[in-house]
Amino acid sequence: MAKLTVRDLNVRGKRVFIRVDYNVPLEEKDGKMVITDATRIIETLPTLRLLTEMGAKLILAAHLGRPKGKKEPSMSLRPIAEKLADVLGRPVVFLDDCIGEKVEKTISIMQPGDVALLENVRYYNEEEANDPVFAEKLAKLADVYVNDAFGAAHRAHASTEGVARIVAKRGGQCAAGLLMERELKFLGDELENPARPFVVILGGAKVSDKIQVIDRLLDKADTILIGGAMAYTFRLAQGYKTGKSLVEADKVDTAKSALAKASAKGVKFLLPTDDVVAVPVKTDKLDKKGKPIIEFQNVRISSDMNCPDDAAGLDIGPASVKAYSDEVMKAKTILWNGPMGLFEDKRFAEGTNAVARAVAETTQNNGAKSIIGGGDSVKALNKAKLGDKVTFMSTGGGASLEFLEGRVLPGVAALSDK
Ligand code: 3PG
Ligand code: MG
Repeated sequence: MAKLTVRDLNVRGKRVFIRVDYNVPLEEKDGKMVITDATRIIETLPTLRLLTEMGAKLILAAHLGRPKGKKEPSMSLRPIAEKLADVLGRPVVFLDDCIGEKVEKTISIMQPGDVALLENVRYYNEEEANDPVFAEKLAKLADVYVNDAFGAAHRAHASTEGVARIVAKRGGQCAAGLLMERELKFLGDELENPARPFVVILGGAKVSDKIQVIDRLLDKADTILIGGAMAYTFRLAQGYKTGKSLVEADKVDTAKSALAKASAKGVKFLLPTDDVVAVPVKTDKLDKKGKPIIEFQNVRISSDMNCPDDAAGLDIGPASVKAYSDEVMKAKTILWNGPMGLFEDKRFAEGTNAVARAVAETTQNNGAKSIIGGGDSVKALNKAKLGDKVTFMSTGGGASLEFLEGRVLPGVAALSDK
C-alpha cells in the first residue's frame, strides 16, 4: 500500500489519535443500550494491540448514529467503552467529551499503553462540517494520527480528514490502521488483477445505488449476477411487466446502457429468470419511521419474466438460484454486495441464503477468494453462520460502495504517503 501504516510508526510515549468506526447497532434493553453486533469493535483489536505493544498512548475517536450536534444520550459511546475494555482485556477510560481542557488534562496524565475513548464526535455539528477550529481542538490531543475507520473514510469530517491534515502540517505522521489496510487490500488491490473467472454478485433495492459499481466492474468481471429489487428495473428496461415490484422508472435508460456495455464487453450479465412474488397489502400499523407496514400475501413462485399485475417480486426464484449458484461455483474470485431479496423475511430469504452457501462452499472447497462488500450481505452471511467461511467481509457500508466505484476516500487521501 502506498500509504503509511501503523507498522511503519515509532510511537513510544506518543499520543496516537485513532479514528475508529464504532458505529455499531445498539438496542435498548431494560433502559440500557446494548450492542447487538460488535464486529466493528473486534476488527480494530489488532491495531489497538499493536499500538499498545509499541508503547503508544491510545486516544480513540468515533461517531455513533447521526445526533446532528445534539448530546443525544442514546448515542453515547459509553457502552462501547465497556465493550472495548472487555474484548481488549485492558481498562478503557471513557471521556464524556471529545474536546476541551478536561479532556486534555486527562490525556496529559496517560501512560504508554493506556487507552481512552472520547465521547461521540458528532455531538458537535462542527464534526460533519469539517470545521477547522474544531479539528484544531481535536488535533490538540494528537502527536500522531491513525485512521482505522474504513467505514467512515468516505466522509470528509473533522475526525476523519481535518485532524489528519493538521497533524501532517505540523510534521506529524498520519497512518492507516491494520483494518483500514486490510479493507483497501481486499476491496482494492485484490480486485485489480483477480484470478478468473471473476464473478460479481450485486443485489439491493436500487439501480441508482449500484450503477457506478456496475459500470466499473463491467470493465473487470467475467460474470455479473443481478438480484434484489434492482433486477426489476433491468427487467423494465428489457420491456417486461414488473407488476407492483419496486422499480426506478427513471433509471431505465441507465439500466439499458449497462446491458449494452455488458454485451459489448462480452460480460455474462444475468438477471433472474424466475421470482418469488407476493401481493403487497398496506396495513394500518406503522413502522418506526411512521410509515404504514406492508404485509405480503399470497406468496408464490412466478416463472414468467413478466411479473403478475397484482404482485411484487421479492426474491429470486429456484431456477435463478440454481443458475446463480452454478456461476458462483465456477468462480476463482467473487465479489458480493447486496441481498438477492427481502431476506429479513424468511419467505424471501432463500435466494440470498443460497448465494451465501454457494460463496462459502466454493471458497472452502475450490480455493476461490470471496470478498463481501459490507452491509446487508455481511448481515445475511452472519445470520446463516457462514461469516467465517468467506475470505473477507468489509466493515464498510457506504464506504465500501464508494471505494468500489473507484472513488478516492477523503479519509484515505489525508494519510501520509510511504
Ligand atoms: C456507517 O455506519 O456506514 C458509517 O459509520 C458511516 O456512518 P454515516 O453514514 O452516518 O456517516
Ligand atoms: Mg451509513
